[in-house]
Amino acid sequence: MNDLRGRVTKDGIRIYDEADFAGMRTAGQVAAGILDAVIPLVRPGATTAEIDAFITAEIQRLGVTSATIGYKGYQHASCISVNHVVCHGIPGAKVLADGDILNIDVTVIVEGWYGDTSRMYVAGALPRKAERLIEVTHEGLMRGIAAVKPGNTFGDIGFAIQSYVEAARMSVVRDFCGHGLGRVFHAPPNVLHYGRAGSGPVLEEGMFFTIEPMVNLGRPETKVLADDWTAVTRDKSLSAQYEHSIGVTAEGCEIFTLSPAGRFFRTWEQ
Ligand code: MF3
Ligand code: CO
Ligand code: CO
Repeated sequence: MNDLRGRVTKDGIRIYDEADFAGMRTAGQVAAGILDAVIPLVRPGATTAEIDAFITAEIQRLGVTSATIGYKGYQHASCISVNHVVCHGIPGAKVLADGDILNIDVTVIVEGWYGDTSRMYVAGALPRKAERLIEVTHEGLMRGIAAVKPGNTFGDIGFAIQSYVEAARMSVVRDFCGHGLGRVFHAPPNVLHYGRAGSGPVLEEGMFFTIEPMVNLGRPETKVLADDWTAVTRDKSLSAQYEHSIGVTAEGCEIFTLSPAGRFFRTWEQ
């Protein structure tokens, strides 16, 4: 793979080599380990600020760097998006109530490499409708990942996600997308979670990007609140998201952000 070093495709997508995969693996495992460590803190009565403070302390303890503190003026080590918050929820005084569902999104920098991942949690008992939403969102991500192999296109990823989610009578958010990453946080391409099979750039071995579908129980439209970050569903319906950072291999892809504890999907179990 060394002959691929330094190449950028006509779509502006960087092609990485074997040593770069090792860097991403380490960064992804650190990010995913933090999302494992936070599981016991998610319970009714906890505030999202407490959870974020724990994440900040973990990042410090591990001797790595938060990619989000200072990013475009963002001040926190995580985004915590509760119930109808789609993404970019700001940690704060909000007290979690029984049955609240939340996405926690952490991005770290380890030796220059970015690991970006998020998953769903529940405070207390999981309501049945929320469980369905979370299951469909996770399965949507996994179907997107299953479409990743050289020769397929980014449109194939979006199509796999959208067709599955809409068959389940839920909607895919259009206003936010996945992204290339590596030694930068957000790079080309925009990874859409909807689209037409065969459209978009062709996937090549050595591409690094995230897939991070946001799925709503109601309509797909979102709006950003006055804090300029918090994105919510316009119809106030529940929203869920899962995110992995991946690298395209000869055969398919490597998921850099698998949970070391095997607790990516149903974080509330065990
Ligand atoms: N981690 C988010 C993503 O998946 C980005 C968060 S940027 C922040 O791309 F500034 F809001 F933290
Ligand atoms: Co991301
Ligand atoms: Co993220």
